[in-house]
Amino acid sequence: MLTLPELSYDYSALEPHIDAKTMEIHHSKHHKAYVDKTNAALEGTEFLDKPIEEIISNLDQVPEDKRAAIRNNGGGVINHNMFWMCLSPQGGGEPEGGLKSAIDDAFGGFEPLKIKFTEAALTQFGSGWAWLVQDGENLSVIKTSNQDSPLTMGETAIAESPLRPILCIDVWEHAYYLKYQNRRPEYVEAFWNVVDWKEAGRKFVDK
Ligand SMILES: [Fe+2]
Repeated sequence: MLTLPELSYDYSALEPHIDAKTMEIHHSKHHKAYVDKTNAALEGTEFLDKPIEEIISNLDQVPEDKRAAIRNNGGGVINHNMFWMCLSPQGGGEPEGGLKSAIDDAFGGFEPLKIKFTEAALTQFGSGWAWLVQDGENLSVIKTSNQDSPLTMGETAIAESPLRPILCIDVWEHAYYLKYQNRRPEYVEAFWNVVDWKEAGRKFVDK
């Protein structure tokens, strides 16, 4: 059974960049709904007690009539679990250490990465996510629709091409609409002030 994880900071802790009401609804309603619906879909199957990352990475083994529900809701669980960890009241600034070097190599510096990641977040049509991922020794920026994640990339099995998520931003309207309405660019700009680069650095595997 999946449970809704506690946040390591208060709903108001990311103000003014991400407002408390948005955080509260996003976590206690949206994220919780993904948890509940995933549990409901897994009920009575052999997958109920397996890690959701493993289930999502092997969707073809899930009963066909459950597959869409688990892809969408289980993906929502994984993506939001990660998203909260990408944020911190002490966030902002720039990456350091091995991650900084890898960003310099892959994008030519932090500013070019910001531009590329922002562009992915702004051009994701409709609901979805933008990601900084590690693929072997390389870093790249990708975007996914709905609740697909780098672990699924749609129907692609992770085992053949594992992408390690380093940083993500939720660009579903529920992530920003209360404060920013249709102004997604302002939300993405504000996001950089609360990015937890220490956590991103921990997710990065220095080869
Ligand atoms: Fe969300």
